[in-house]
Amino acid sequence: MTLIDMESTHARILGIESSCDETAAAVVEDGRTILSSVVASQADLHARFGGVFPEVASRQHVRTIYKIVEQALQQAHLDLGDVDAIAVTRGPGLPGSLVVGLNTAKGLALASGLPLIGINHLEAHIYSAWLDWPRGTNAIEVGSSMSLKPEPHFPLLALVVSGGHTELVLVRDHLKYAHLGGTLDDAAGEAFDKVARLLGLAYPGGPSIQRAAEGGNPRAFDFPRAWLEDTWNFSFSGLKTAVLREVRELEEHMPTLPVANLAASFQAAVVDVLVGKTIKAADAFGAREILVAGGVSANRSLRETIHATAAVPVHIPPLALCTDNAAMVAGAGFYRFVQGQRDTLRIDVSPNWPLTEL
Ligand code: KG4
Ligand code: ZN
Repeated sequence: MTLIDMESTHARILGIESSCDETAAAVVEDGRTILSSVVASQADLHARFGGVFPEVASRQHVRTIYKIVEQALQQAHLDLGDVDAIAVTRGPGLPGSLVVGLNTAKGLALASGLPLIGINHLEAHIYSAWLDWPRGTNAIEVGSSMSLKPEPHFPLLALVVSGGHTELVLVRDHLKYAHLGGTLDDAAGEAFDKVARLLGLAYPGGPSIQRAAEGGNPRAFDFPRAWLEDTWNFSFSGLKTAVLREVRELEEHMPTLPVANLAASFQAAVVDVLVGKTIKAADAFGAREILVAGGVSANRSLRETIHATAAVPVHIPPLALCTDNAAMVAGAGFYRFVQGQRDTLRIDVSPNWPLTEL
């Protein structure tokens, strides 16, 4: 599969995503151009539980998914017959959530005769770096990069950091991955969510910590950094425990917690390790460029630090494409479509599907 082959097809893919607590649908052309992207977040629904409540998530997906798919097609000014394939997240994710998106996609594929393509959610996050809105439709805040940005070049060192994953992956070419390492315990986003709860901040914890940290001193507390030298793995549970210990101690002596300083110091410890190891891996494996994706890549401090430190170009998706969305699923779906992947209606969800099995 060469890039020329891919550029010669202008396939439009309908993407569907429901792996966690976002119900999303999108239409993307040629793996890059977003014709529509609709995301219904359930964050408010789960906030009172301090995290995603799986049963509540799957029921909410059932309630909203057809409406979201309809909106995505309407916003793209297309009918189902105008798209070339349906791509849907099969995993990893919550089984009861994944099954809603997959069954919706199967129903649509059966009714329309369109090909069905099951997509790995981590691969979808990686392909979010190729996406763009057409010029002049800059409807959404686009973070550090503007319309029709250059596409990433291989070999790429990808850091995928989300609520469920912290993975360092060498991407040698389209759809070709070598897994270098991952978290041994909590994912980076999970650490943000758990520490936010400790500090009495709202779910989802990442944005709450970022906001709280803005008024704090990142050097106020010297929290541990687990470098796990000689491996490309991560560990965030020791850091979380260190914050817990500090909070317990402070609570004994102070009427109110110095939340801003705690948040800033915690965030700095996470960012140091993520950026440090990613840059070291890029160097060790001769990567031409770096890609950071997944919910935690929305973090301002992470974005600024890696842009300021890396010696090679860094791709980070615009903010709206960092957290879960279906445009990234449609984007990855395009490359799988061109590669010839066609799935049958017998495929099932794959809640623990590692990128290495692709
Ligand atoms: O990719 P994503 O939307 O869902 C998963 O696949 O897990 O990532 C969600 C995670 C949550 O843990 C959330 O707290 C974190 O991304 N997150 C952030 C920020 N925005 C979202 N973490 C740090 N800073 C942020 N600004
Ligand atoms: Zn995700």
